[in-house]
Amino acid sequence: MGRINEISALIDNCESFADVGCDHGYIALSVLQSGKCKSVTVTDISAKCLAKAEKLLADYICDGRCRAVCCDGLKGVSSDTEQVLVAGMGGEEIIKILSEGFIPKKFILQPMKNADKVRKFLLSRSCKIVYDGIFKDGKYYFVIKGERDGGGEIYSDVQLAFGRDSIGGSILKEFADNEIKKCKTYFAACADAVRCAELSTQIKLLAEVLK
Ligand SMILES: C[S@@+](CC[C@H](N)C(=O)[O-])C[C@H]1O[C@@H](n2cnc3c(N)ncnc32)[C@H](O)[C@@H]1O
Repeated sequence: MGRINEISALIDNCESFADVGCDHGYIALSVLQSGKCKSVTVTDISAKCLAKAEKLLADYICDGRCRAVCCDGLKGVSSDTEQVLVAGMGGEEIIKILSEGFIPKKFILQPMKNADKVRKFLLSRSCKIVYDGIFKDGKYYFVIKGERDGGGEIYSDVQLAFGRDSIGGSILKEFADNEIKKCKTYFAACADAVRCAELSTQIKLLAEVLK
């Protein structure tokens, strides 16, 4: 299953859905075609990127089932939107979008990096993490599905680093094996004490996954 299908599979049936940073609009097309989501808002900060989605989704925009908005983050999205996707951006950008906007009732987040920071942020905001896994589509991708309310779970350091539901699975083990090799190479060439300490901590965390 490719990245787009992996993400689409996590989207629940709903009345209203928003894809923030939609770029091409493939995910919106998939949920509209399947009938999973009745009303869809697609947004992008770049008018050029949004234009690709507007072209792809033209029929749905015409019949009023899809709305395209050029805006930063959630600024053009109604706060009562049932389910929101933010995929393919860095974790810090995702946190900024949620902090400056709102935490949606249901969300799916696919950070390209700093997934640990996204988990920490969600737990600190008492969000419920429904699924916290990893998948592989050439590269490895962490994906987090959650809800605004009902949190309170306490994660271990390994869960924070790699996702609660990834642990024990073959994909995370493969990821950890590769990352350990990379970290050991960097460590061998590292001249900075702080960076060396960071790498050493990371290697220990990764080794936990392989136990
Ligand atoms: C790598 S693409 C990912 C596209 C799609 N979400 C996916 O996962 O395939 C990232 C997109 O996010 C948009 N973007 C970045 N920061 C944004 C922000 N603060 N608000 C809205 N869109 C943003 C970019 O313009 C770009 O189109």
